[in-house]
Amino acid sequence: EMRDGPRREAAVTAPPLDLVARPRRNRKAEWARRLVRENVLTTDDLIWPLFVADGTNKRTPVASMPGVDRISVDQCVRDAERALKLNIPCIALFPYTDPALRDDAGSEALNAKNLVCKSVRAIKREFPDLGVLCDVALDPFTSHGHDGLVEDGRILNDETVAVLVQQALVQAEAGCDIIAPSDMMDGRVGAIRRALDEAGFVDVQIMAYAAKYASAFYGPFRDAIGSAKALTGDKRTYQMDSANSDEALREVELDIAEGADMVLVKPGMPYLDIVRRVKDTFGMPTFAYQVSGEYAMIAAAAGNGWIDGDRAMMESLVAFKRAGADGVLTYFAAAAAEKLKQNG
Ligand code: PBG
Repeated sequence: EMRDGPRREAAVTAPPLDLVARPRRNRKAEWARRLVRENVLTTDDLIWPLFVADGTNKRTPVASMPGVDRISVDQCVRDAERALKLNIPCIALFPYTDPALRDDAGSEALNAKNLVCKSVRAIKREFPDLGVLCDVALDPFTSHGHDGLVEDGRILNDETVAVLVQQALVQAEAGCDIIAPSDMMDGRVGAIRRALDEAGFVDVQIMAYAAKYASAFYGPFRDAIGSAKALTGDKRTYQMDSANSDEALREVELDIAEGADMVLVKPGMPYLDIVRRVKDTFGMPTFAYQVSGEYAMIAAAAGNGWIDGDRAMMESLVAFKRAGADGVLTYFAAAAAEKLKQNG
């Protein structure tokens, strides 16, 4: 590491500048940098998304996400154990649904024995103290790849919400701790809250994907859950326009009014300005999702030796803290937690 100090053999001589402030003084050594550091990433800030698939003792790499696998339920329990050992508070579950089980209505979402519900039960049986988050949306289950019901090419709002409510109840029944609606239908947070309360799940939290943008950065995720080829059209009639910022605040305000316990901004890195505005405006527990495409960019560049992968990972994660996020959903969660443990 470079150390500063008077340079006696400098090639260039110059009279000292008459400066009162020399900001570099606070950066002169590692201990000094630690002393003035404003934001710190800890394992408490991490939520680890996992992709569950059929089979036993099976891990299948996701080609567009180097280092990420689709895993069978038993392996999901092993990763849950790894999360617990690494002090990661919470994992998030996403299914790769057998194409034969997908239909127009996404009915497999309501199967109490689907992959997500099986995983939640298996994890909770062994590790009841680990937080488990379940995504609520129909896209892993529909043959058309949309998050909602489709009629004549239109995504139906209220009809979709009725199904999402059932999906949330099935997941809560399985033992999930946090329901995270990612579908962007209007009114779904309120409808889900009411249904959860009526069914006695008053302690099940809702993390609303409140400001979720129609983004090119979800590509590798759609490979991972097998909806990429299926998707007809795009999601712009329900996910937000990336040009908008005030609209994000209106979305967040509605979700809070409807009963969201936590709010999420997605994607992450290209939307740090939104994270900051949301946190400053509402002071709610605010999360960011460093999505699959963001992960893929860093992993691919690192794999090619173009950037230092570990440093880029840690830099990207502390950036979320700096922007005001309370935590991050990231495919780097386990790797980052390992790194924090080494450094700790
Ligand atoms: C589904 C959902 C998506 C993601 C999380 N939940 C994809 C989408 O909206 O198309 C993306 C996550 C990622 O890219 O890592 N509603």
